[in-house]
Amino acid sequence: MKALDIKRLRKSYGDFLALKGIDLEVNEGEVFALLGPNGAGKTTLIRILAEGLGYDSGEIRVFGEPLSKKTARLIGYAPQESIAYDLLTVEENLRFYADLYDAPRERVRELILEFSLPAKKKVKELSDGFKRRLNLAIALLYEPELLILDEPSAGLDVPSRRELWEAIGRLREGGKTILLATHYMEEAEALADRVAIMNEGTVIAVGTPEELKSLAGEGSVIHVEGILRGTERVKEEFPRTIEREDELRIAVEDSKTALPRIVELLVEAGSKIRTIRVEEPTLEDVFLKLTGRGLE
Ligand SMILES: Nc1ncnc2c1ncn2[C@@H]1O[C@H](COP(=O)(O)OP(=O)(O)OP(=O)(O)O)[C@@H](O)[C@H]1O
Ligand SMILES: [Mg+2]
Repeated sequence: MKALDIKRLRKSYGDFLALKGIDLEVNEGEVFALLGPNGAGKTTLIRILAEGLGYDSGEIRVFGEPLSKKTARLIGYAPQESIAYDLLTVEENLRFYADLYDAPRERVRELILEFSLPAKKKVKELSDGFKRRLNLAIALLYEPELLILDEPSAGLDVPSRRELWEAIGRLREGGKTILLATHYMEEAEALADRVAIMNEGTVIAVGTPEELKSLAGEGSVIHVEGILRGTERVKEEFPRTIEREDELRIAVEDSKTALPRIVELLVEAGSKIRTIRVEEPTLEDVFLKLTGRGLE
């Protein structure tokens, strides 16, 4: 049975079509990531599933049942913004939501231990990492079958993000099905069994990270860092290039011939190259290939 089965889902806000006919299947027990830039429609899709936001047309089944108030109990949801009350302690928040969701009070103790949460601290005194963990714990109060996380690590520093990823990894090992939205390709690659790449209200590709990366085509990516000049000429010769401050990612067919040519172009123009590496393509390269632009 599929945890989620979505067919031809359309949703508009007034005249604006935010979801243009989404088809998506999430298998039981997998971590499934919705990866896409701002405005792709990730939160809209999640709010339809988890908040009962209305939609124009389409079919949605959750573990075989049509999406309804009855299936709400199967879904735990951690929204993009924290839903904890600042002036209450961690424990008080968990108790409040346990009562609201009619979940057993013992779960509060268990979750405090499971997520190493400081029970007596007021939420306003928590670091962002702990706030995110509390938000996740609240979603687990009634042990849902399907956990939906909207940008679970947005705004976290690298160590807190890794801790949160470990927590999500443990949930997956415990057999939970997880749907998460992210615009960090590292997050999708680190956590997801399968990824749907979304752009402007459509799903443009679905597969395992490996399958998707093979869509980027044969070849590799040359990554150059330094004080770079002559990047325009590189882009003319190698159109599959993403430029960021002090950084170029260039997708090439054959790195052996491309590498010396790229170095030549950059050095001739007066660049100071700090590092240059040949890498495997990432999901961002796939996105670039499919849409012609970077993820952020
Ligand atoms: N309540 C709303 N009313 C009108 N338009 C909306 C509303 N919510 C979202 N939109 C529009 O729908 C599109 C999809 O937005 P959505 O929030 O689903 O994207 P997202 O992929 O979650 O983006 P982000 O990465 O920024 O969270 C955007 O163009 C957004 O402006
Ligand atoms: Mg969003």
